[in-house]
Amino acid sequence: MVVRNALVAASQSGAMKSAASSTPITRAVARRFVAGESAVDAVQTAADLAGAGLHCTIEHLGPEVTDEDSAQHSVNAYLKLLEALQAADLFDRSELSVKASDMGLDLPGGAEIALANTKRLAEVAAGLGTLLILDMEAYASVDPTFDLFHAVRSEFPQTGIVVQSYLRRTEVDCEQLARTAARVRLVKGAFDESTEVAFQTSQDIDLSYVRSLKSLMNGKGVPLIATHDPRLIEIASALAVRTNRERSTYEFQMLLGVRPEEQKRLAASGEKVRVYVPYGPQWYPYLVRRMAEKPANLSLFVRALAGRG
Ligand code: FDA
Repeated sequence: MVVRNALVAASQSGAMKSAASSTPITRAVARRFVAGESAVDAVQTAADLAGAGLHCTIEHLGPEVTDEDSAQHSVNAYLKLLEALQAADLFDRSELSVKASDMGLDLPGGAEIALANTKRLAEVAAGLGTLLILDMEAYASVDPTFDLFHAVRSEFPQTGIVVQSYLRRTEVDCEQLARTAARVRLVKGAFDESTEVAFQTSQDIDLSYVRSLKSLMNGKGVPLIATHDPRLIEIASALAVRTNRERSTYEFQMLLGVRPEEQKRLAASGEKVRVYVPYGPQWYPYLVRRMAEKPANLSLFVRALAGRG
């Protein structure tokens, strides 16, 4: 936890960001987890993944949204990305991951702002033959994000949502979502939440993941199994067989740079695998979060920073 807190503090540090981007080795380590700063970088990564038989979902990492202009800036970044994906003919393998906060949800009057912005993106994406999924953020935004999801989905039914198995409510959310044809990405969850609303032990979080996954796999929608956990991947594969799911009706999803060999192994075995590709000017805090999740990543990065990578 101490290391994690230190890393979160480091994520705010401009000096650490410049150090991380200053040498070819540290840049290379960063590039393992982040596509780069521009839409061109993201599209290049999407093309490389497509070449390896993988799909992708792309997130723009932009400056914090503090007013309507910055929310518009975020929408424009995604529109530029869609243009670049169109030029590269990558729509059959790419979709967008979008944070409700980047669409303006946390601003005064944010529900309406985020709805207008997200609908605009969903409309352009649908016109080009792709779709978007709403990432899930901290607990306070879960209900507003669900409201946004239902409102956007009523016009753009392919829109997806993320649910977090560490939340006590998620099993019930999944039972409800499973009655619809929704695309639902099931993750463990990445924020620090209180014991009132969230399971705290990895065993409880994993059990909740399995119960939620069972509902989704038995339901009518498209479960997006987003985990790197070998045991959960095995359970998901067994559930897919038990529920007679065609392989086109569910996906495995993992983060760029995390267990890349497993991504390729699953794809080679015939599974649909989608890789989460982050890019944009604010890549450094994202990178630090990924470091915090796995001490081995941290030592890789620190060695690289020290010139011994
Ligand atoms: P867990 O953390 O238990 O890891 C299991 C194993 O996977 C580890 O033992 C290790 O081998 C490997 N591993 C995991 N993380 C690693 C890393 N960073 N580097 C190297 N190895 C690693 N969260 C959220 O709250 N809202 C969201 O919208 C999303 N969206 C999202 C999309 C996608 C496609 C993925 C894969 C994940 C998310 N997440 C998320 C993050 C998620 O909540 C969670 O924090 C991470 O996926 C890590 O959890 P695992 O399920 O991999 O299990």
